[in-house]
Amino acid sequence: MSADGFTPPPGARSDWTIDQDWAAYTRAEHQVWMTLYERQSRLLPGRACDAFLHGLDALDLHRGGIPDFARINEEMNLLTGWSVVAVPGLVPDEVFFDHLANRRFPAGRFIRKPEQLDYLQEPDVFHDVFGHVPMLTDPIFADYMQAYGEGGLRALDRGQLHNLARLYWYTVEFGLLETPQGLRIYGAGIVSSHAESIFALDDPSPNRLGFDLERVMRTPYRIDDFQQVYFVIPSLQALLDATLQDFGALYGRLARSGDIPIAAIEPGDQVFTQGTQAYAAAKA
Ligand code: PHE
Ligand code: FE
Repeated sequence: MSADGFTPPPGARSDWTIDQDWAAYTRAEHQVWMTLYERQSRLLPGRACDAFLHGLDALDLHRGGIPDFARINEEMNLLTGWSVVAVPGLVPDEVFFDHLANRRFPAGRFIRKPEQLDYLQEPDVFHDVFGHVPMLTDPIFADYMQAYGEGGLRALDRGQLHNLARLYWYTVEFGLLETPQGLRIYGAGIVSSHAESIFALDDPSPNRLGFDLERVMRTPYRIDDFQQVYFVIPSLQALLDATLQDFGALYGRLARSGDIPIAAIEPGDQVFTQGTQAYAAAKA
């Protein structure tokens, strides 16, 4: 990020986008994508939700390594009108929300090193494109992400980003979906991680609780390790419906109600799994 955080770095446009420069990727970089892609596409059937798996098929993301955004965008344009734009790294909140509000998903263009297959701090092209873009081919999720961008701009104006960011975290990044076949993953942070794709569904440690908008926005999250709680939506439509209301009154209540400890189970919670929290305890 630039010094003041608001001026695009040299070479970036005023909206912080850059060219993907697909031709500049090396064979080794394409190979990292293919390794990650093969590992996840083997693991995710029966774990990721149908919308994700269909999106993955529709976009044909396995052809020849790191996808060319121009090719993805032709397909996305037909499906939901979303596109992927390359950015140099994390961008200011306002820039990020403005892209989402206009159905553009800002994606890192760099790819992790072969020794970072399992963990890295900044989102790379695998997390951003493999993790996020398939869900953007679903019409309902596509509307949700646009609405989130518009809501983000309003929350910024009102100084309420803190609570809204938790909604993004526990849905877009780490959300689970209830289906007749069992819980499925739709969150990008999970589907792009081999270990968390297993942990989020199978491990006895984390709590798995029914999604409730206000509850989620009162729950802190961890950025350094597997989540201690996952929230389960009954459908993508229910998620969109729950967020259509104006959040003005909600922000007012949140300012008074305070946070819920990360691993707590509250009286009103719908409990899918009461976790042991053994994983987090062992690391503490
Ligand atoms: N309805 C929210 C508001 O009034 C906007 C929003 C929609 C936020 C979807 C998040 C997700 O601010
Ligand atoms: Fe992400």
